[in-house]
Amino acid sequence: MESPAEPIVRIRNLTKSYRRGEQRVPVLTNISFDIAAGEFIALMGPSGSGKSTLLNLIAGIDKPDGGSLTVNGTDIATLSEAELADWRAANVGFIFQFYNLMPVLTAFENVELPLLLTSLARGERQARVDLALSMVGLADRTTHYPSELSGGQQQRVAIARAFITDPVILVADEPTGDLDRASANDILALLERLNAELGKTIIMVTHDPHAARSAHAIRHLEKGELDVAP
Ligand SMILES: Nc1ncnc2c1ncn2[C@@H]1O[C@H](COP(=O)(O)OP(=O)(O)O)[C@@H](O)[C@H]1O
Ligand SMILES: [Mg+2]
Repeated sequence: MESPAEPIVRIRNLTKSYRRGEQRVPVLTNISFDIAAGEFIALMGPSGSGKSTLLNLIAGIDKPDGGSLTVNGTDIATLSEAELADWRAANVGFIFQFYNLMPVLTAFENVELPLLLTSLARGERQARVDLALSMVGLADRTTHYPSELSGGQQQRVAIARAFITDPVILVADEPTGDLDRASANDILALLERLNAELGKTIIMVTHDPHAARSAHAIRHLEKGELDVAP
């Protein structure tokens, strides 16, 4: 019998609280779960339940107070800030609710940005950005600025930027939260393709049950605790 593959995300007894003056406000109390490589997970729960906090911990944007957090073979809870920044750049692509594109850069330049930190030559960067923008259906919008694109188009640029470095994990925090239904469906179809065709592990925070149906599995977060169902 084959032994099951090591999960790409392994979380054990994770805790996180924020300091507010003298008080510590617990956000995540004791989270343990695994995510298998190639999964597409939707993380749901009421506003303030800690979804973004958990996503940011998995993505190495923030650090836990306790517990262990192994992502793609690295215990990221033990890394220094500098090591964590390098680790993020190599392992994780980010998709945000409000796209977070640089307004003074074109669609092409926004997608190229993460590649400027790599050793790729200009011609290779150009080829990769062109391919990524055509994959998201924006080959005819490469010289447009964000202000010249619809919300759905801006999110597609942001998705191209997220996978341009070929990270193993994509994290998305309410990626359809600011979009109409048709644009949201385009974004969800694109995430499904990145999962199915490129094998990206996707962790998507959403409060929209329709969006969550694109995922293979749904986990619910309630008052800092995760449901126990598989
Ligand atoms: N930087 C911060 N400082 C203090 N409290 C925070 C901070 N970020 C989040 N919180 C608090 O942590 C809780 C969970 O926040 P968050 O993870 O953003 O929830 P969700 O994404 O599920 O809406 C909330 O009560 C929020 O007010
Ligand atoms: Mg949130």
